[in-house]
Amino acid sequence: MITTYLLLSLLGVTAVQGWSIHIQPSGERLLNRVAGENFLVVCSVKEYEGPASNVQVNWIHNNEIIRAGGRIMTIEKPLSSQLMIVRARKEDSGDYMCQVKLDGGIKVEPAKITFIKAPKFIDPETEQHPEDGTTAEIECKVDAEPGVEIFWQFNGDTLGESTSRPYEFKDNKQILVIPRFDSKKDDGLYLCNAAQFSSFETLHINVTAYSRPSITIFESPKEDLGYEGKSAQFKCAATGKPAPSYKWFKVAEDEEIVASDLYTVEDGLLVVNSLTASNSGQYKCVATNEIGEDDQTATLKVFLKPAVEKIPSAVKEDGEEVTFTCEFTGEGKVNARFVFGEEEYKVISTTEASNEIEDKEDKDENEVEKADEDGDDDEDETTTGDAKDEEEDDEEEEKKWKRFVRDITSERVSVKEEDGVLKLTIRRLTSSDAGDYQCIVENEAGKTVRSANLAITHAPEITGFEREPVRASDGEEFKLHCEASAVPEPTWTWKRDGNEVEADGTRVTIESDTDSSTLTIKDAVKADFGSIECIAFNGVGEPAKATMTVVRVVAPATPSAPNCREHLFPNYGVCTLNAEDFESEEGDATPEEIVFYVATQDEAKEEGFDFVTQARNFTVNFNGAKMRLHGLDVNKGYFVRAIARNEAGESELSPQGTMETTDPWTPEAPIDVLVKCDTSCEVSWTEPNDHGAEITSYKIEVIEMETNEHNEVVPSGEKDEYDVDADEESFVIPSMKPNTRYEIAVIAANSIGQSSATPVTFDTPDTVTSSMSLESLSSPKMIVVIIVVILLVFLVIDVLCCFFFRCGIIACFLGCCRSDHKKSAAADLESGKAAESGRLLDGPAR
Ligand SMILES: *[C@@H]1O[C@H](CO)[C@@H](O)[C@H](O)[C@H]1NC(C)=O
Ligand SMILES: *[C@@H]1O[C@H](CO)[C@@H](O)[C@H](O)[C@H]1NC(C)=O
Repeated sequence: MITTYLLLSLLGVTAVQGWSIHIQPSGERLLNRVAGENFLVVCSVKEYEGPASNVQVNWIHNNEIIRAGGRIMTIEKPLSSQLMIVRARKEDSGDYMCQVKLDGGIKVEPAKITFIKAPKFIDPETEQHPEDGTTAEIECKVDAEPGVEIFWQFNGDTLGESTSRPYEFKDNKQILVIPRFDSKKDDGLYLCNAAQFSSFETLHINVTAYSRPSITIFESPKEDLGYEGKSAQFKCAATGKPAPSYKWFKVAEDEEIVASDLYTVEDGLLVVNSLTASNSGQYKCVATNEIGEDDQTATLKVFLKPAVEKIPSAVKEDGEEVTFTCEFTGEGKVNARFVFGEEEYKVISTTEASNEIEDKEDKDENEVEKADEDGDDDEDETTTGDAKDEEEDDEEEEKKWKRFVRDITSERVSVKEEDGVLKLTIRRLTSSDAGDYQCIVENEAGKTVRSANLAITHAPEITGFEREPVRASDGEEFKLHCEASAVPEPTWTWKRDGNEVEADGTRVTIESDTDSSTLTIKDAVKADFGSIECIAFNGVGEPAKATMTVVRVVAPATPSAPNCREHLFPNYGVCTLNAEDFESEEGDATPEEIVFYVATQDEAKEEGFDFVTQARNFTVNFNGAKMRLHGLDVNKGYFVRAIARNEAGESELSPQGTMETTDPWTPEAPIDVLVKCDTSCEVSWTEPNDHGAEITSYKIEVIEMETNEHNEVVPSGEKDEYDVDADEESFVIPSMKPNTRYEIAVIAANSIGQSSATPVTFDTPDTVTSSMSLESLSSPKMIVVIIVVILLVFLVIDVLCCFFFRCGIIACFLGCCRSDHKKSAAADLESGKAAESGRLLDGPAR
């Protein structure tokens, strides 16, 4: 019974308290949560029917109720409470409880919650580059709680030791070992997964294999040789991934070669520019990339041009002998020769010539070739062409040898060569041997040239001096210059009247060099002028001399009154001066120009008239003859005075001369008459002197010309005349024929009459068209022609009318068209009239 009660009471309690606590998630799912993430768990009351306000739900940890706010907090809802942990930590692990207070009763539900650290990749390398062909180790270091499990994936497969590709693992699978990595198959994205309890992390690793550089192309100069002054080129190319970069070193210096004037460096290319001896040595190319390097070394030997010692120049006398010695050193096949102008002197090598030599002569002394380009001697058989030179070497050698023999026996030129010394000896020198001798020494690297000058002494020869008199006046400076050719250098002296001119270094200076001398005199005084001589002397032969004149220019004397009355003109005057006025014992007093002052006699009579300031002036060049004064008025009396001028100064004003002008004359003929033709011809001219009366018009005369049977050019047509206004200076000639000769004249007219004509003969080009221009229509002659044409047309119409209607227009006007039977009479009358009027009208056309 008791048991039944207990059971009942138990049931009764249960029945009374019919609710329960529910935690979501629960049990296992609250364990080993990943730290670092947000966490949420809900505690709620189920199967409770009463009002929610009676229910209080709390979360408790470490005996404290967790409140809202903070990193660990709760949010209350009806009949439930959410526990939230923001970025949960491992330390947040522990025993939590959900407590429910309801109707004074308390119920508790425990919840164990644990957090574990999430697996973390240490220094993850997402790009890994194993070396191709080697055993690759792909790393994926993981920091995690014990129990973490690492697995690898590639191309969607999970990698195990048993897969077709034998993968291996090390260090708890933190290292994936791929034996004999083959970039073709094995390059790609590898996934490293670290799994722990309910979560896992993945690292994507991009694996691309690298390969170390390997130099596959290495080029150096042929036979390791470079030539002085030229450039040498090295080329280096390597395979490798990533693409290698290149560096060049000069082995002895062990310093990287950088681009400069000497070196061009461009990736695998190295150019050593303009080689010198110091560029010989070993050059190394190093190709480098991320995983290794490769190098190669080449040797360069710089082949130098020959070195040639300086050759002293020589000065010799006629008939003497000279020897030029050319000392040289050089590598390889060295060839030395002397060149003078077009001639070349050299020794044939022993081996080339020995076959042909007869033993009687000394080798060195005799192996001479003189290649005489002039071909001025009698060796006809030696003038072989180049082609033959090559084809018949032996024969050629023989000829050279023969030539040499002749040279040496008869000649004055010999060459010998011994141990790097080439000697050229020339005997019985003449002036034609003077000049530059070049010693040219060549080898494979190039040639070196040294020059020496041979001067043959000769007496000086003056080659330049002031041939024209030098003009100067007192106080001025003048210079005299003399040039001479002489060997040896001449000494210079200057003489005036047989006495040497002494240079004082300030007023009088003499500057001389090897081939010229200059005498300068400042602030000249009377004694400095006259005849001055330069003398060059060099101890050979006679001194050379040149005589120069220095003219002392003095101001002109005051001229006597100008003579302006010899001829009279309407609007200008012609004056002369007495040339004797300008003769002077002191020097040259000839004027350069004359200034004339001209005033009318009326003006000059005025009180206080000053010629210089008030009269008209004319500056004319003085040439000793007549001088024209333009722009005067007609029929007037003038007074004329003059001043003479030159470089040295000017004279006083002369006494006055008289001058008169006449009444106007007819104009001068037009000047500068020109004809220009294109499609038409235009004549132009310049207004002439009007001789005191204004030009009123121009007349243009045009005549067609032809050549008659006697070959004379005669007029062939009528003369056409055109009038042109006075202010025109050109005229387009109407209606010209192409390819025809014309004579054209321009005549000016003024109130006095017509000028003479200025005829011009010319041929029209075929571009000229004979069509009438508008201008030609306006000429009077043309108007007459046009009227005639109109009348003729009128007449033709009239005749036609008469023919068709038996009544002409004229007849109609006259009202004489009558009945039929009178028609013929009327027609007769009409035609008679027509004929008559035709005759009448024809008249003017003739
Ligand atoms: C892997 O790296 C290579 C170069 O290193 C690149 O070309 C390729 O696109 C990368 N692949 C991925 C999937 O990122
Ligand atoms: C000539 O006359 C002009 C003015 O008409 C004047 O300026 C000039 O100085 C004169 N020349 C001489 C040389 O007198």
